[in-house]
This record gives sequence, C-alpha cells and structure tokens, in this order.
Amino acid sequence: MSEEPKREQWASRIGLVLAMAGNAVGLGNFLRFPAQAVKNGGGAFLIPYMIAFLVLGLPLMWIEWTMGRFGGQFGHHSTPGIFDSIGKRKFWKYFGVFGLWSNLIIAAFYLYIEAWCVAYAGNSLMGGFKETLPGDFFKSLTADSETSILTISGFGLSMFVLCIAINIWILSRGLSKGIEIVSKIGMPLLIVFAALLAVRGLMVSPSNDPHAVASPFEGLNYVWEPKFDSLTNPNVWLAAAGQIFFTLSIGMGSMHCYSSYLRKNDDVTLNGAAGAWTNELCEVVLGGSILIPIAVAYLGLAAVQEKVAGGSGFGLGFMVFPTLFNHWGSLAPAAGFFWFGLLFFAAITSSLAMGQPIMAFLQDEFRFSREKSALAFGAMLIPLALPVALFNQKSFFDEFDYWAGTFCLVVMAVGEAVLFAWVYGVDKGWAEMMRGADLKVPRFFYWVMKYVTPTLLIVILLASMFEPKAGWDGYITAATSGKPLPDWHWSSNSMVGKLLHHDLPLKENATPDEATFNRNLKIVRTVDRLAMVAAFAGFAWLISVAWKRRTMEGGTAAP
Ligand code: ALA
Repeated sequence: MSEEPKREQWASRIGLVLAMAGNAVGLGNFLRFPAQAVKNGGGAFLIPYMIAFLVLGLPLMWIEWTMGRFGGQFGHHSTPGIFDSIGKRKFWKYFGVFGLWSNLIIAAFYLYIEAWCVAYAGNSLMGGFKETLPGDFFKSLTADSETSILTISGFGLSMFVLCIAINIWILSRGLSKGIEIVSKIGMPLLIVFAALLAVRGLMVSPSNDPHAVASPFEGLNYVWEPKFDSLTNPNVWLAAAGQIFFTLSIGMGSMHCYSSYLRKNDDVTLNGAAGAWTNELCEVVLGGSILIPIAVAYLGLAAVQEKVAGGSGFGLGFMVFPTLFNHWGSLAPAAGFFWFGLLFFAAITSSLAMGQPIMAFLQDEFRFSREKSALAFGAMLIPLALPVALFNQKSFFDEFDYWAGTFCLVVMAVGEAVLFAWVYGVDKGWAEMMRGADLKVPRFFYWVMKYVTPTLLIVILLASMFEPKAGWDGYITAATSGKPLPDWHWSSNSMVGKLLHHDLPLKENATPDEATFNRNLKIVRTVDRLAMVAAFAGFAWLISVAWKRRTMEGGTAAP
C-alpha cells in the first residue's frame, strides 16, 4: 500500500457508525418520509419502500462503502479519484464529478433549511409561537411570497450565514475532532428528542385533550397497515425509490468519502448495514411516529392528506407544527425546541457530510490544508447558497432540490452500479467487499448487485425521465383493459417536463402581474440551470488540471 502521510482516520468504530448514520439521517427522515408515505397511500407506500431498501438501498450502500475503502488505499477520498482507481478509463473520473457537484448544490439549499431549524428552535424556546403564527414567522424568516421574485429577509440571511459559518468551522477541525464529535453528540440527542416527542404525541387522545379530533394511532395505522393495491402503480415505486436514495444519501458521493478513511481490512459489510439500519430505525420508527400521528390527532387524516398533497412535508413541519404544540400547555416551548432541535442535529450531521467530499478533493488533488479546503468549500458554496435565500423558493430552491437532490442521485447510482458490477466485475467487487467482513452477506445479494440493482435503476431513471402526465399506471390500465391510450403529455414531475417548465403553468385567466411573475420565474430558473452547469464544468476542469499535474508528478502508486 502506498505511503499516505498524515492520513486522516476515524477515531473509533462507534464514531464511524454514528457519523455514517448521521450522514444518512436528516431532514429526509423526519419531514420528507412522513409526507411521502401519506401522499402515496400510507401502508401502500411501505411495501415498495421496503423492497427498494433491500434491492437498491442496501446493495448500493455496500457498493459505496466498498468503493470508498478501495479508493482510500490509493489516497483518494472523493469520487473522481475513487472511480478512477476502479474504472481506469478517463470517463470514470469525470463521472465522479457527480459526487462533488451534488453535494455542493444540495448543501446550498439544505443549509438554508438548517438555518430555519435554528430560528424555529430559538423562537419555540422563547415561547414565541404563543403569539406569532408559524406561517408569519416563516414569512419573516424567508420573505417568501407567491408573487415576488426577490425574497430578501435580513433575519433569514443572518441565520443562513451563521449556519454556513458553523459548518465550515466544524469541517475545518477535521474528521475525528469535527464530524465524529458532532455525530457522537448529535445522534444520541436526536434519538432521545425524537423518542420523547413520539411518546408524548401518542398520548394525545380526544378523551384527554379537547383540541384533539382523532386518535394519533389513526395516523400511525395509516402509515403502517400494509395495502397491496399499489404494487402495480409505478409512480409509487418511483416515489419509494426516490425516498430511499435521498434518505440513505446514496448517489451523492458522501458515503464513498466517509468510507475512504477506513483501513484496508476494516469491515464494510457490518458497518454499512448498521448505518443503513440505524437510518431506517430513525426514519420508519421515529420519523413515522411524530409528524403524521400528531398532525392527524389535531387536524384529522383528510386535512393532513390535503396539506401534504402539493408539498414535500416542509410545510407541515414548519407552518403547522408549532401551533399544534401550543395544545400541550407549559410543555409547548420544550416540545417545539425538541422538534426543531432534532431537525437541526439531523440536518447538520448530513450537511457536514456534503462538505467533506469537496474538502477531501481539494486536499488530495491540490494539497490544500484542512482549513484552506474548508474555506474554499465556503467560497464555492456562498455564490450558490445566497440566491437560494434571495430568490423565490420556486426558483433556486426547488430547482436544486430536483436536479441535484432527486434526479442526479439516480444518474450517479446507475453509473456506480454498472462500474462495480460490470466494469470492475462483480466477482472482484464481491471479494473486495468481503475482505475483513464482520457480516457474511448472503449470496443472494451477489445476484442482486449483478442484475437486479443495475436493471431496476435504469428502469427507474428512464421512467422518471419520460413520465407521462397520465402517469404510467394510466397507460398500463388502458393497455391491459384494451381502452384507448391517454393522449401523450409530459408529467410536470418528469425530467423532460421539468426541463420544459411544465411545472410552472400559466393560468388561463392570469392577471398581467401573474404573467410577469411567471415569466421572471422562468428566467431566474434558466439562470440557475446555467449556474449548475457552470459548477459542473468547473469541477470537471479542476479534475483535468489535477490529473495533468498527477501525470507530470508520476501518478499514484497502486496498493
Ligand atoms: N440523507 C439526508 C437526509 O435524509 C440527505 O436528509
């Protein structure tokens, strides 16, 4: 193995697992998952979700851990170098741009939500939601509006800058003194806060609380009761797979980065599975037992379904929840603080994982110091993050969420599944994965990694790129019943539909102001797409410079 001077490492196994779990456990677990579950039929969503976890989530988690540990032996801690050491062809190091770019773009909007958590936690603790409606607080924080392109709030901006600074400071402290310590404190606290809220929430009952309209168990049952009817609906499968990617932080490059700090014979199978299962515990058990049961208890199931129908769950968590806690009397400030505190810890342990791959890239390929690379990450982030706060959320925020936080995760997953199973070769990959393994992975997963995962990923990618407005189920039903197929229109959720702005339709009877707003929104979105392309090209250029230098210096020794 090549000499790696001053190579960073995890201080302990528990620190590693908690950091990995912290990387995965995030806002997706407590806000996105419950909303997706309700939107997609409750228990009907859970079956495709569990299957997606087994045939996509777990195999890809092992693949990413194995690739990361492998690349780390060549001194690479970010995907361009990791993929290059596996794939050998020029293409793979450029494909690795996804593992830097997605982190940067996701961090730009994710840290904004992190800033809301800090502001909401502070306001809850001070009893602020007794007088202020959460919606009004949200407006003062984001200045977001249905009609204005520019949304400037001094309060929101200062919270945002504070969060960016906290992240950069922690990152500059390094792996074991920064990320590992935050995860060791944040993860247990998060689980305690979540468990307390879940237990208190399930104690709400119309018989002991005059404000309750239903039992929270009605919400719990809705999420948990298996329903098999949706197994033939491809849209539910797409939603379930999308949630698995987002929640496990798969296809982002951050898992590869964390595992690249392992030693050659460190276990990846048990650690990888432990991280993934901890995430699932936090998502399905804790995440599924707070937002929906409490909201159902006070608002009723139908109202909750209506509220999550058009959004991602953030609305319910931020706009509605603090008011519901007011029904808990003197416990309200603590409950609000616990809820937003847990969201903050969930978010920061994930956002740190977004900064580390970019820092690692600069450290490995440009010999930057830790401090300098943390500052460089901040310098790259700020020009992308500020527009998220300064412009209407339908522009930068939504676009970053879709392209980097949804679509490109699947693109990267397709590439890495093919790289592992077909370019490197599943036999070599399996042997690499099993070296030092503390968990004997059943042979079943060998076949899954070879055939099922790549095939399913390609189907999911194509289905989500070209989804029709009538939904794939509309076509399947028509085809199987012999009825005429629906007219073809792109779905506003499809990649093509998004590209053509089909998710920004102009109403027929739009006022001139609405028409201007719509036009400006499309212009800002175009600028924001150019910014994403520029960031991608910038990383690709850095890679070409780094590899030219590497060639001149004589390359990297093989282990
Ligand atoms: N995996 C992280 C989350 O769930 C990104 O929020």
